[in-house]
Amino acid sequence: MRVVSGIQPTGNLHLGNYLGAIRNWVRMQDELGDDGQCLFFLADLHAISQPHEPAQLRRATLEMAAALVACGIDPARSVLFNQAQVPAHAELQWLLNGTARMGWLNRMTQWKDKAGKNREGQSVALFTYPVLQAADVLLYQATHVPVGEDQKQHLEFARDVAQKFNNDFASEGAPVFTLPDPITPPDAARIMSLRDGAAKMSKSDPSDMSRINLVDDPDLVMTKVKKARTDPEPLPSEAAGLAGRPEAANLVAIYAVLTGEPVDSVLAQMGGKGFGAFKPLLGEVLVETLRPISARFRALLADREELDAILARGSARAREIAQPTLDRTYAALGLVR
Ligand code: TYM
Repeated sequence: MRVVSGIQPTGNLHLGNYLGAIRNWVRMQDELGDDGQCLFFLADLHAISQPHEPAQLRRATLEMAAALVACGIDPARSVLFNQAQVPAHAELQWLLNGTARMGWLNRMTQWKDKAGKNREGQSVALFTYPVLQAADVLLYQATHVPVGEDQKQHLEFARDVAQKFNNDFASEGAPVFTLPDPITPPDAARIMSLRDGAAKMSKSDPSDMSRINLVDDPDLVMTKVKKARTDPEPLPSEAAGLAGRPEAANLVAIYAVLTGEPVDSVLAQMGGKGFGAFKPLLGEVLVETLRPISARFRALLADREELDAILARGSARAREIAQPTLDRTYAALGLVR
């Protein structure tokens, strides 16, 4: 078993990342123990697919490393690194560009959403982004990739690339790549914006009120929850009553995941309460969840040398694990080195 996953270092870690992916990373790390079975990385190469500020990317990369450690990723048990220190990611992407099909990329919903009507004006990197993502996981022979719902299509793409490559080429008669399985937490696969129940919570949303950042202080968390969009009806006493009420469903889902209770039992207790009563309870649970994470985050961020050392160690280990697959890929393609 090999677990591999990544996150873009663009701004703060938010509740959607945490509940949709990072909590799952920590759980898998804690189950698998300490023999280099889990690799988690900052997708800094992906971050340059959209306009960005170099100074901000540099800062955000270190911040995201600190945030992951604060959330429970232990660099002594997991391999924690950034793509830019492991050239094999970019190399394997190029090698896979010969296998990936334009038609597959054209169907990616993230590409369609981000490019909108202005496809001609987008960077080539935004279009070929899923090929790099495929390289990220295939490089390490990942078997399991913990992600939120929005990344599942990219994982399907990675499987298609692996399958076609294995069909077309082999290394000494054996397939080169393992087909990875996405692992999505059913209860928290898609955390929605606090301002719009139809949009996912996202760091690219221009309104900071749309998301809870892991470093928001308690007052700000309470304010964001109180201002979260809702409808005027009280909470229903059964999950079926949330149909057609996306904002209400999102707040209840967040509460349920954070308290570890099923939605039905949350509603059995809260049914009939208005949001004026429910929101302060949700705010409290959020504040208590985030309190230890933001304290650890701030302490780590003050130790720049330690953060650099963590990423340097993790990257060295990642390069070692990646090398045999990279070598086999070159050989399978007939490239003389
Ligand atoms: P990114 O950086 O947008 O998000 C990191 C992880 O958080 C999940 N996530 C969410 N889950 C539930 N609700 C939300 N509102 C929400 N927002 C984000 C994402 O599904 C993801 O698991 N392309 C990836 C990064 C990446 C990657 C990879 C992931 C690069 N290479 C290889 C896995 C394997 C991305 O931009 O995720």
